[in-house]
Amino acid sequence: MATVLLTGGAGYIGSHTAAELLEAGYDVVVADNYSNSSPEGIRRVEQITGKKVKLYEADVRDAARMAEIFRENSIDAVIHFAGLKAVGESVQKPLMYYRNNIDTTLTLLEVMAQFGVKNVIFSSSATVYGAENPIPYSETMPRGTCSNPYGWTKAMMEQIFEDAAKADPALSVVLLRYFNPIGAHSSGMIGEDPCGIPNNLMPFITQVAVGKRDHLTIFGNDYPTPDGTCRRDYIHVTDLAAGHVKATDYVLKHKGVEIFNLGTGTPYSVSEIVEAFERVNGIRIPFEFGPRRSGDLPESYANADKAAQLLGWKAVRSLDDMCRDSWNWQKQNPNGYRTE
Ligand code: NAD
Ligand code: UFG
Repeated sequence: MATVLLTGGAGYIGSHTAAELLEAGYDVVVADNYSNSSPEGIRRVEQITGKKVKLYEADVRDAARMAEIFRENSIDAVIHFAGLKAVGESVQKPLMYYRNNIDTTLTLLEVMAQFGVKNVIFSSSATVYGAENPIPYSETMPRGTCSNPYGWTKAMMEQIFEDAAKADPALSVVLLRYFNPIGAHSSGMIGEDPCGIPNNLMPFITQVAVGKRDHLTIFGNDYPTPDGTCRRDYIHVTDLAAGHVKATDYVLKHKGVEIFNLGTGTPYSVSEIVEAFERVNGIRIPFEFGPRRSGDLPESYANADKAAQLLGWKAVRSLDDMCRDSWNWQKQNPNGYRTE
């Protein structure tokens, strides 16, 4: 079976993808600098699957270190998760975001070329559709105007992959545009472990549930949506991980560039998420309505048809599954992977 290198594989989506790839029979190598993760996530993936992962502490910007990894392993495909992802921080520290995200991508593509590795999958985001495109978003729409540097790094990296593939017809590139991944592995052993105050909705809700924060602020209730709160396409991280297995099968068999939305196609509002979490887990989440958060769009959701047609992949887990599994992870690991 083929060997897949996951850059940033110790993180939230990478660790879940490692578990699904191992279960599907792939061998997995991980390179991560632990800037937003720890080796513990991958140790737990090994416990869950009963299989070994070859784990390297490595900065993807370090070409010599990456070359060692490619020399020591016969890599068939790479999934490039490594990157900084906090939208607000990217507004404060744009150069750090451009430096890290663009450099990792350029270095990775150069080292892949050096070792003749031709298959790569990239973690892009629905944010590249920007404010101009109508919902639901389809892959045929042009990239739009992003509202923050993080989003621009994703748009720029998509362009870099497209140009690299144009110059090298042997290259096979899959750009995956994720919508809003939430949830955790059904075992509760791996999940999202944000540093400090969570920026994203579900980790904030679970920290309220576990007693770390006293209430949730819902950012805006005057949007042009049915209940006035923003609507998003939340997708269970295990479904997202399964999408990566299908994308790996695909990238090994095709050439050129293909873009896929990974979403469910069904939007839920912030208020609906809070209600579902409370109902499924029997926990009250105190909240108040606050002002809108700058850069938020009223609605974002996928047309998920292309992934169904070409990859044979569909999200199968429900919002209730997402709420139950997010809470199961948080309550078993109140401090994430830290033991204190
Ligand atoms: P994460 O922070 O948990 O994972 C990213 C991993 O990359 C971390 O383990 C981090 O330590 C590592 N990393 C960062 N810079 C690195 C470098 N220079 N060298 C080596 N490792 C490095 O985030 P995630 O949620 O798992 O996201 C994975 C990818 O998916 C990211 O590229 C992110 O931008 C993208 N994405 C995430 C979401 C989301 O909502 N979680 C949505 C769209 C796209
Ligand atoms: N929200 C709250 N209160 C909170 C946190 C979030 O009301 O404490 C709301 C937001 O305003 C938004 C919704 O919950 O309406 C979802 O917010 P998230 O921060 O969880 O997710 P976003 O849709 O803003 O961001 C996600 C990814 C980004 C990506 C972006 C655009 O996290 O990586 O989608 O595609 F850039």
